[in-house]
Amino acid sequence: MKKYPPIIPQMPHMLHGGDYNPDQWRAMKDTIWKEDMRLAKLAGCNAMSIGIFSWVALEPEEGRYDFSWMDEVMDMLAENGMVAVLATPSGARPAWMSQKYPEVLRVQENRVRNLHGGRHNHCLTSPVYREKVTAINTALAQRYKDHPALGMWHVSNEYGGECHCPLCQERFRAYLQKKYGTLDALNQAYWSAFWSKTYTDWSQLESPSSHGERSMHALVLDWKRFTTEQFVDFMNCETAPLRAITPDKKITTNLMGTYPGINYFRLGDAMDVASWDCYPLWRNNMDDALVASRHGFLHDLCRGIKDGRPYMMMESSPSATNWQPVCKLRRPGGHKLYSLQAIAHGSDTVQYFQFRKSRGSFEKFHGAVVDHEGSENTRVFREVASVGEALKKLDDVRGTIVPADVAVVYDWENRWAIDESKGMLQENNYEETVVSHYRAFWKRGIACDIIDETKDLSRYKVVVAPMLYMLRAGIAEKVEAFVKAGGTFVASYMTGYVDDTDLCFLGGFPGPLKETLGIWCEEIDALYPDERNALTYQGKRYEVRDLCEIVHLRGAESLGSYEEDFYAGMPAVTVNHYGAGKAYFIAARTEQAFLDDFYRAIEAESALTPVLDCELPEGCSATRRTDGETDTIFVMNFSPIGRMLDIGEGGTDLETGKELSGIIELPARGVRIFARKK
Ligand code: GLA
Ligand code: ZN
Repeated sequence: MKKYPPIIPQMPHMLHGGDYNPDQWRAMKDTIWKEDMRLAKLAGCNAMSIGIFSWVALEPEEGRYDFSWMDEVMDMLAENGMVAVLATPSGARPAWMSQKYPEVLRVQENRVRNLHGGRHNHCLTSPVYREKVTAINTALAQRYKDHPALGMWHVSNEYGGECHCPLCQERFRAYLQKKYGTLDALNQAYWSAFWSKTYTDWSQLESPSSHGERSMHALVLDWKRFTTEQFVDFMNCETAPLRAITPDKKITTNLMGTYPGINYFRLGDAMDVASWDCYPLWRNNMDDALVASRHGFLHDLCRGIKDGRPYMMMESSPSATNWQPVCKLRRPGGHKLYSLQAIAHGSDTVQYFQFRKSRGSFEKFHGAVVDHEGSENTRVFREVASVGEALKKLDDVRGTIVPADVAVVYDWENRWAIDESKGMLQENNYEETVVSHYRAFWKRGIACDIIDETKDLSRYKVVVAPMLYMLRAGIAEKVEAFVKAGGTFVASYMTGYVDDTDLCFLGGFPGPLKETLGIWCEEIDALYPDERNALTYQGKRYEVRDLCEIVHLRGAESLGSYEEDFYAGMPAVTVNHYGAGKAYFIAARTEQAFLDDFYRAIEAESALTPVLDCELPEGCSATRRTDGETDTIFVMNFSPIGRMLDIGEGGTDLETGKELSGIIELPARGVRIFARKK
């Protein structure tokens, strides 16, 4: 095993910095820009993301570029030993463009064209928009290709939304025509005889809309797939000049966790490095363990987008986040812990939105490294500087991986299908369910990769795939081969219902996984929010809620059964010994305690190794990064009280340089990082 090379080769350290908008301060540049450099160095920053929303400053009139200010900023960064994560500005565009070319404006689902304003408000198909983006990206790449500060590319910003304009409709039709070939094939796949929806001409196909066609699930799924392809295609259009002119510079675009509008595993194909913007809703009390485990999942998901390569936490707030319902301050110490949580899960960066708080407009109260007050004498600045200090000690961790024997499946297309499914519950809560399974491993300090249906399973000991409702072609066969070869597979209620165009499997659920799981699911009962059933597993009773699938054994054995209602006594947890492996099925949505105990048994029989050989106290987590020779262990306490825990043989504390072993105290929101040779 070896390390991945640095994301930015000329900066072979953990990257620290973030969104920097000097163009907002051009009128005060003589004082502010200089002060920015002094403060950035003081905070230990080495990478600044620039130009994200600078289109009008770079091209004030059509075709007239003004790079003078950016030249100065780039020079200033280089002189101060920093690198630029240089953005392409397509996230927001100048008013002159919308005025002259209204086709660049996005059309909503109700077919009304937006006015100029906001951001992320452009058509992805518009030839004019693509031409303008290509031109400015080409100009940027030409201008800075040899500049010592150019580190990498930050393409656009948080791609999202969709456009329903006539140009996009045409493209959608072409996509469908290519996919299905004939209208007959499409009509079959869409089950369009239902409510007399059979299409008799391609021109009748339109994107879904809540005041038009929104009831045909296969159409909605295809529209979402198409929208993802639009972003992949648009990103490829944006990156073509960058790749041609600066072939050795890495490219990313910043993602938003589990944002449902784009299948990020697919968008990952268009980038070299994954990155995401991390804005947890910390409650600053005991609930933080729930928030922390959810964010452990989101960090692991980002790492999964590029198959485990170190990723970037591209944005985070060093304090309050102004769009959250309650703009809570980060508690003392919290900033360092939450920043290092990213590193602990495989990020090679801690970056912020933003460096200097803007003076006006929408984000003037968003947390920033430098506040309106303007100096280093703030609590937040000191917290940021402490992260800068900590990161300097982690040079050897940069590029290392997070090894995992467990994969948890989170699949965007499956989520779309569940969200549209119209049955069981109106809110079937796929994401929350996946996170609750993940949480059982997080609490034990057992690393998980987050993958989608399409990824390779063979490298894992255990694959957990809750609510795998949609089984696209070939997936069931892959799971079957994995189990036959000795893997452990865990499935749950709502598995194997539909194929990739949302047609139900005939012949019994879980469709093509019936044999592997050794069961037949005859019916599924939904419970009111306050209703409960229970199951007994290994002599213990656990509460179940929301969904109870009624299961018959077809080769599997029962490990636990329902306690109440007409299905009392029927199997609620099953295992099928299949080939050299095992396939488990959890038939109902259980309380967390069941998942914790169930996966504890899986841990023992699959010989999974937690990072630390001890019980992690409530609210604590542990992760490991490695280069194959040295392990770096991160122990984190997300709870608001101090915790004692036994780290066993321990290692060298990377912050203090001292040896650390045995029982240690982790203060409230404390984090310790130690390294040891394997
Ligand atoms: C997003 C955007 C940033 C900024 C932050 C504020 O992540 O990418 O430009 O608006 O939100 O939290
Ligand atoms: Zn459009």
